[in-house]
Amino acid sequence: MNDNEQNSRVASDADFDLQMSSQQMLSLASKAAELIVDRVTGLSKEKAWDGEFRQSLAQQLMSDPPEEGTSAADVLERAAHEILPFALRLDHPRSFGFIPSSPTWPGVVSDFMAAGFHINQCTWLVASGPSQLELLVIDWFRKWLGYPESAGGLLTSGASAASVDALVAARESAGYPDNATVYMSDQSHSALPRAAKIIGIRPHCIRLIPSDAHFRMDMTALAQAVAGDRKKGFNPIAVVANAGTSSTGAIDPLRKLAAFREKEGIWLHVDAAYGGFAIVTDVGKQLLAGIERADSVGLDAHKWFFQPYEAGSLLVKDATSLEHAFAFRHDILQDTVWGANHPNLADRGLQLSRSVRALKIWASVQTFGMAAFRRAVSKGMELATRAGEYIRHSSMLELLTPVSLGIVCFRVNPQGISLDDESLEGVNKDVLARVFWDGQAFYSSTLVGEIFALRLCIVNHTTTWEDVRATLESTERFGQMAVDRVQLTPER
Ligand SMILES: Cc1ncc(COP(=O)(O)O)c(C=O)c1O
Repeated sequence: MNDNEQNSRVASDADFDLQMSSQQMLSLASKAAELIVDRVTGLSKEKAWDGEFRQSLAQQLMSDPPEEGTSAADVLERAAHEILPFALRLDHPRSFGFIPSSPTWPGVVSDFMAAGFHINQCTWLVASGPSQLELLVIDWFRKWLGYPESAGGLLTSGASAASVDALVAARESAGYPDNATVYMSDQSHSALPRAAKIIGIRPHCIRLIPSDAHFRMDMTALAQAVAGDRKKGFNPIAVVANAGTSSTGAIDPLRKLAAFREKEGIWLHVDAAYGGFAIVTDVGKQLLAGIERADSVGLDAHKWFFQPYEAGSLLVKDATSLEHAFAFRHDILQDTVWGANHPNLADRGLQLSRSVRALKIWASVQTFGMAAFRRAVSKGMELATRAGEYIRHSSMLELLTPVSLGIVCFRVNPQGISLDDESLEGVNKDVLARVFWDGQAFYSSTLVGEIFALRLCIVNHTTTWEDVRATLESTERFGQMAVDRVQLTPER
């Protein structure tokens, strides 16, 4: 066949170019399973972080798509050895940077099942079983939060999407006013001001309220900002509270915020992306008391509920507020309207085509039971408390904030040696660089006020005290090296 004939060739019924035999499918799936199980079971012997600079990865990877295919098993091998390892191993037992996560195996396999059953979790007609499953999982979350039966919600890609959905619902419930303003603490995750921007809040109408000495929203400053804005003709539409800031784990005064919400009639959204699942434990329930009075709550099951990405959620106290904000009629979807008792989950948020996120949550809870999940969440808090104690007793380390949820902020600051602020910052940056390149553990940094802080976030169900202790010990060792270097450097 010449080129012209080849190009004009029309696929016939006999061509199934993109299919595999059942034997090939099974063998490829077991290849993938082997590669993943090898990775997961070997994690603690691997480095917690591996990365490569762009030039070398580009040299290795950049090429035109091949015209003819190659062995599928070889392709997966390549992915497993040449591409995917160059990443932060978020589920490594000594991975404490940012907000890590450690999925359970039934959760991982459920994502494979969801892809294999090829569900589009958009409407009741298209996916009734999965829709009912999502309603069930959302109902679990509702009960854990202490929300009334009138509450509902949906699963989202993550907290960023949940925040956008929540702010749209808040804006609609406020009657879509002009000059809308949104309030959040200066500790809020960047996803929140971004969500406000996405829904069209002008930058000068996104108010970052100062936080107090414990990094919780200052209620007096909030009340003054709202009152001042009202006088100037602005229209407050939402206050966003943190139930676990990503930086220090601080929890805003939720009860006071709820009382403020009830008095002022402004939608209260709680970003509980990271800390929210603490609510399954008794300690967490106390820490998060008042959350049940918020209008909406965002919770990420891909953080502290041991699920693979993406498993965010948004719960709203009045389930109808989401559909009021998001439902649109479309001719092509007219067959999918089955009435209020058969909700189309796509009408509750920004996505139409959606994967079955509920499956992994449901399957892992069914497999292990809630008692195991409760213990796993508690363990993170216990290990963080113990890390705080270790740091308090260390002559090399200094605890910078009270341990909150699973987060520990600290720095190298050796007793008996006086270093100025600039040198201390240099020492701690040096320590962090050594941690990165050493790879035995991974953590990241934040700012505690003006202070450069090292930060552990302990939320992995496979982490042991030995992992935490070894990480703190190596920090002390790297700290000593960095301090020695500063002391040996002649003053300029
Ligand atoms: C407190 C908090 N809010 C929001 C987000 C954004 O969440 P996502 O990455 O799921 O969109 C994060 C992410 O770490 C977070 O920790």
